[in-house]
Amino acid sequence: MPETWVNLAERIGADLHLDLTGPGGRRAALTRALRGAVRSGRLAPGTRLPPYRSLAADLGLARNTVADAYAELVAEGWLTARQGSGTRVAHRAEPAPPRGPAPPRPPAPPRAPSAPGRAAAAPARRADRPVHDLRQGQPDPSSFPRSAWLASARRAVTAAPNDAFGPGDPRGRPELRHALAEYLARTRGVRADPEAIVVCSGFAHALRLLFGGGVLRGPLAVEGYGLPFHRELLARAGVRTRPLGVDADGARIDELSDRERAVLLTPAHQFPTGGPLSAHRRTAAAGWACSADRIVIEDDYDGEFRYDRRPIGALQGLAPDRVVYAGSVSKSLSPAVRLGWMVLPGHLVDAVLAAKGEREAWAGVLDQLTLADFLRCGSYDRHVRRMRQRYRARRDRFVTALAERAPHVHATGIAAGLHAVLRLPPGTEQAALDAAARAGIALDGLSAFCHPGASLPPEDGLVVGYATPPDHAFGAALDAVLRVLPS
Ligand SMILES: Cc1ncc(COP(=O)(O)O)c(C=O)c1O
Repeated sequence: MPETWVNLAERIGADLHLDLTGPGGRRAALTRALRGAVRSGRLAPGTRLPPYRSLAADLGLARNTVADAYAELVAEGWLTARQGSGTRVAHRAEPAPPRGPAPPRPPAPPRAPSAPGRAAAAPARRADRPVHDLRQGQPDPSSFPRSAWLASARRAVTAAPNDAFGPGDPRGRPELRHALAEYLARTRGVRADPEAIVVCSGFAHALRLLFGGGVLRGPLAVEGYGLPFHRELLARAGVRTRPLGVDADGARIDELSDRERAVLLTPAHQFPTGGPLSAHRRTAAAGWACSADRIVIEDDYDGEFRYDRRPIGALQGLAPDRVVYAGSVSKSLSPAVRLGWMVLPGHLVDAVLAAKGEREAWAGVLDQLTLADFLRCGSYDRHVRRMRQRYRARRDRFVTALAERAPHVHATGIAAGLHAVLRLPPGTEQAALDAAARAGIALDGLSAFCHPGASLPPEDGLVVGYATPPDHAFGAALDAVLRVLPS
């Protein structure tokens, strides 16, 4: 779905709401919205409109769609286009009669579907078409590295051997497994043998393979705070989960017992509260798994995005024979790509492949080859570095604004990741959520992530995903959320 809220303040010196809903496709919607803005005077005569490319990126539309809309409005006399001065709002009270339709352009390519996991992952939907989308869970979709991805796809498909297009290794393409082994060892300290890597379509798929496929059995210990979607997925697979306490040092590893056969942890960045698992508890978790036939599942969902300190290495490095390390591109690139991986203890590889079955559950070979090239040629590193800088700048802006305008609200989990938790005074979470819904802000309350069986002290908070809005809309989103915080 395209963005519907555009704050063009930085581009044209004014706030502008473009409603891209309504009949007739995106081009018609954008044309109608811009025409309405000129007609109503919200876009003043002489205002210079953003170049196609940047408006297209901001709105998640194809460049051609924006070019077509501009061309149509130029033809109708609402806009003028001059070499060297760009496209501007025309200086006239009423438009000239239409000079005929704009020349036809090729149709815009279809947009990728939204990630299947995400719809179910967010605990609540308070606005179908939010003005400000601050739900945790996805990176800025307008930052997807389209050109570099296309260049990798072209190179990878050109260079791929013919056997890549026939039935392949159920572990995934060797090019990708080798590239991942190198990358994960270099950046996350994972001890990764390409033969023990199994490519899948994301962390949710990894959980399905491990538990739905009978590789591991419950009871499974989980963190008292976690993603409800993962809990539901495990419950559907018949797995009983037992919540561990969570404090500033991460999950309470001392609460693990002999009854559990596995534990699911987010050691780099407890989800969603945000602290890393302390060094002492990491060692304890590895020791617990090694002392019997037990497994730690390490969900390294956003380990690349660490801002204040050096990245925290993977727990897997402490006990590669006892830890299933899992990651995906959902935070680093896009949750719509659906590509992930497991680095498995050697003794689990065959069982996971059996669970994977013949072909249905494989990730597409074209994406695998593309990601392999993307990793090998350094584009992945460059993209992650760029996004890290961008998210860090947002995080800093967020923290500064909070200190100035809501000093009584404490933010946690801000040293890493794409979301922060705003701790609220007791009993105020629901009121803040209601106020947010009225303001068109989509976000979630902390309580929605709490395991129903957890005996944790009730905590009020808002989980704010600050990565999703495109750059031009971030300031307005931040402003809006600060306005709904309890005073
Ligand atoms: C806690 C957690 N784990 C894992 C993931 C990644 O899930 P997937 O790879 O299935 O998109 C997410 C993404 O939102 C997450 O929040």
